[in-house]
Amino acid sequence: MTDLATRTLGRTGVEVTTLGFGAMELRGAPRGREISDGDLGKLLNTVLDSGITFVDTSIDYGASEERIGKHISHRRNEYFLASKCGCLVGWEPSATEDRGGPHVYDRANITAGVEQSLRRLNTDHLDLLQIHMTPSKKVLEENDTIQVMKDLQKEGKIRFLGMSGTLPNITDHIAMGVFDTFQIPYSCSQREHEDAISQASAAGAGIIIRGGAARGAPSTDNERAHSRNPELKTVFEQAGLDDLLNGDTAMEFVMRFTATHPGMTTNIVGTMNPDHLKANIAAMAKGPLPADVYEEAKRRLAAAGSAPQA
Ligand SMILES: NC(=O)c1ccc[n+]([C@@H]2O[C@H](COP(=O)([O-])OP(=O)(O)OC[C@H]3O[C@@H](n4cnc5c(N)ncnc54)[C@H](OP(=O)(O)O)[C@@H]3O)[C@@H](O)[C@H]2O)c1
Repeated sequence: MTDLATRTLGRTGVEVTTLGFGAMELRGAPRGREISDGDLGKLLNTVLDSGITFVDTSIDYGASEERIGKHISHRRNEYFLASKCGCLVGWEPSATEDRGGPHVYDRANITAGVEQSLRRLNTDHLDLLQIHMTPSKKVLEENDTIQVMKDLQKEGKIRFLGMSGTLPNITDHIAMGVFDTFQIPYSCSQREHEDAISQASAAGAGIIIRGGAARGAPSTDNERAHSRNPELKTVFEQAGLDDLLNGDTAMEFVMRFTATHPGMTTNIVGTMNPDHLKANIAAMAKGPLPADVYEEAKRRLAAAGSAPQA
């Protein structure tokens, strides 16, 4: 166990650790990296042994749901389990295209998706069902998606309703007042949603941050992540933050910056590397940045092009 802090996930009232586990990296072939079954079991159990209590996955993440079901469903009461809906049931990723599948938000597909997730995750309920890919309010209304989710909630198959949302649609989603949580991309290198996070949090929602370690961008030991996200590393370097690190590694600083946003509840960082998991726990255990460092970092980041979007 570690000293990871917890925060309340908005109006759900549930306490979760400020570091969560993003399980997209566990999707396997053809779109992800491979890992042996033994190493995977060790990694997922280490996540829980470390005290992390929030796990995020999706129908869209290949083998991720089944792997969670296989390796940690016997410890189901130790973690808050979040998956997604709208992903087309039966869609299979192609070996050549690095893109997700289509999304359909009607009753048949949402219900079939939840039933499939429950089977794959080897559980009788999801703690959180998040609408994937930020569809417009109009699409949600045309498909009666919220009512479908509420019906699943009444049946006990899901506990809370969430949105994986981005600008511009997230503004309408917040105003709808039906979502208990929002999953939002954010880091010091990608600050577009800084104000949306504040607005969603002020409306009472729990905030799940993705991209909050900038996909490993500023670290020195992750060439794969850098090649996927060169711009994240560039922004960090251009901001010239070295004198603000005060003993932190660049990755620690990035993760602490994310945790300093007062709206953040949990930062769901994905990793397949046990050493990175340890490092991420240590970074989050350091807590938020001092206020003066945070303000100065925001100023320099804005000058380097990373600023909130109205
Ligand atoms: N639309 C959506 O709803 C949506 C979209 C994307 C992601 N998500 C969710 O959000 C989670 C997080 O996604 P993400 O985009 O932030 O990234 P991610 O896909 O989880 O990947 C994180 C990357 O950072 C690296 N990394 C992690 N810790 C590190 C460390 N200490 N040092 C160096 N590199 C490190 C990992 O590599 P190693 O394995 O080598 O550590 C990996 O390449 C996903 O797992 C998924 O659950 C949701």
